[in-house]
Amino acid sequence: MSEARPPVTPNLRKARGAFFTPSAIADFLSDWAIGDDPDAKVLDPTCGEAVFLLSTAARLRELGAPANALDQQVFGVDLHQPSLDSAMGLLETEGLDARLIAADFFGLPSPSQLGCPLPEMDAVVGNPPYVRYQQHVGDSRSRSLSAALQQGVRLNRLASSWAALLVHACAFLKPEGRLAMVLPAELLTVNYAEPIRLWLRRRFAAVNLVLFERLQFADAQEKVVLVVAQGSGGCDAFSLYHVEDAEDLRGMRHFNHLTVVPEDEGKWTDLLLPLRQRQLFKRVNQEHFVTLGTYGAPTLGTVTGANDYFALSEATRLEYGLSEGQLAPISPPGTKHLRGLSFTRRDWEALRDAGEAVWLLYPLVDDDTEALRAYLGIGEVRGVPEAYKCQKRSPWWRPPIVPAPDLFFTYMSHRYPKLVRNSAKTSFLNSMHGLRLREDAPKSASSALPLLALNSVTMLGAEVHGRSYGGGVLKMEPREASKLPMPSPEALRSAWNLLRNEKGTLDRQLRDGRWISVAKRVDEVLLRRVLGLSPNEAQELYEAALSLRERRIGRETKPADGG
Ligand SMILES: C[S@@+](CC[C@H](N)C(=O)[O-])C[C@H]1O[C@@H](n2cnc3c(N)ncnc32)[C@H](O)[C@@H]1O
Repeated sequence: MSEARPPVTPNLRKARGAFFTPSAIADFLSDWAIGDDPDAKVLDPTCGEAVFLLSTAARLRELGAPANALDQQVFGVDLHQPSLDSAMGLLETEGLDARLIAADFFGLPSPSQLGCPLPEMDAVVGNPPYVRYQQHVGDSRSRSLSAALQQGVRLNRLASSWAALLVHACAFLKPEGRLAMVLPAELLTVNYAEPIRLWLRRRFAAVNLVLFERLQFADAQEKVVLVVAQGSGGCDAFSLYHVEDAEDLRGMRHFNHLTVVPEDEGKWTDLLLPLRQRQLFKRVNQEHFVTLGTYGAPTLGTVTGANDYFALSEATRLEYGLSEGQLAPISPPGTKHLRGLSFTRRDWEALRDAGEAVWLLYPLVDDDTEALRAYLGIGEVRGVPEAYKCQKRSPWWRPPIVPAPDLFFTYMSHRYPKLVRNSAKTSFLNSMHGLRLREDAPKSASSALPLLALNSVTMLGAEVHGRSYGGGVLKMEPREASKLPMPSPEALRSAWNLLRNEKGTLDRQLRDGRWISVAKRVDEVLLRRVLGLSPNEAQELYEAALSLRERRIGRETKPADGG
């Protein structure tokens, strides 16, 4: 079997989503898809330079399929004619054959439609193009979305190209047929793939996922998952396998162990964890954690319509002669300044003295002072009243201020979302969320939550419930934030009693960027002493959070403390 060939023109290949599959993976998937059936008909809908066609044709011939009938059994489609030319050359060199079709796969009617050029397949194999939604545009995107819709899967415009391709490809499959594909691991984690996850469970009688610990494609950054599915009628559970790399696939034949039942809806990010870590996370969560929503509902910050106008520095305030009564103190835009466990009056004053925008314009409705008129004049010159949000309110210059919350919640994070006590009692803008504690929350909650949230279960929960954005940023909308696991009120009280005397030291460590030491200390007290987990269990949870964080950030090395 020939090895995958290096790219000739990397940029053009990237635009077509052309990352060729290592032959060990293609062999494994083709062997499984064909099983022992010498008559199997197999389709690779985006065959590129025939890695899968070579594997399937070779396997069929091994099983006794006549060489001169292979073009009735092995089918490859690709829109790139030069790839198909190489594909045919390679097949011929091996004494193999296939029927190759140069076409946009989304333009090919499926067997249930008129004019389908292909028979129904026993197996669909391959590695669909991975083109992100930003590049996956125009006609080709519309065609792909309507092809998926034909199969009852409604994808949104954020879907990358592989999603619709997978669905359309399965329309060529017999009801009892087999699917064996390489897909991006984001299948498990991103919101736009939710309809695909639901459809996989609905369409197939058995779904197996194989996850790799190491990257498998030298020229593509995406981690991949192998999806091996068969039969029809739906399934409750998946089988899940973790392997180091493609070499480990050799030993795997029968997909019949490690059944998991994924959540009915939502992301399957936790499937990226080894079974024992996932089960431990689930158990500890059920026994000792509640959701953040139990303590209070995360809410959006003030939307001004033009933060750079409505948020003022002290210097601007003085320049226009605005009084403090015409403004409301706020935590300035952004969250970089929220480094410690609380945001204090002293922090606010330091930011004010450093020239940060610590005030929000918030005059009384009947304010008619000269100072305000002068400042509004500047806004008019800058076109602020035309901003969408300003047009929608009256007067345009009075943002609908959100009351000061008990805690701030940083919803865009690199490492982990933070809860910060709002000791300064300021309001805030929409660069963070706020949390007002429920009346029945423990009295210590506003001091204890920021520290105790720095435990491995909560951090792991953030990776599981949050969305991963470009550059590895983790985002949590209020609905996702409210699902974040937090120690139960009982556990919170006990752990806080043990830690409250160290609060000052831990706060300083956090402000110095030594968050790993703090998280370790919190794990020691909360997970080990209060909840009684073993050292191994606490370590497993720590490693699980670390591995998902690193997977998200796309870094393979462990971060140094504070790094
Ligand atoms: C990820 S590569 C995989 C190729 C091959 N199956 C493999 O695994 O090595 C994706 C291939 O899809 C082709 N492709 C992209 N969009 C396509 C479309 N709409 N219809 C058919 N082929 C397409 C590209 O030309 C590229 O060869």
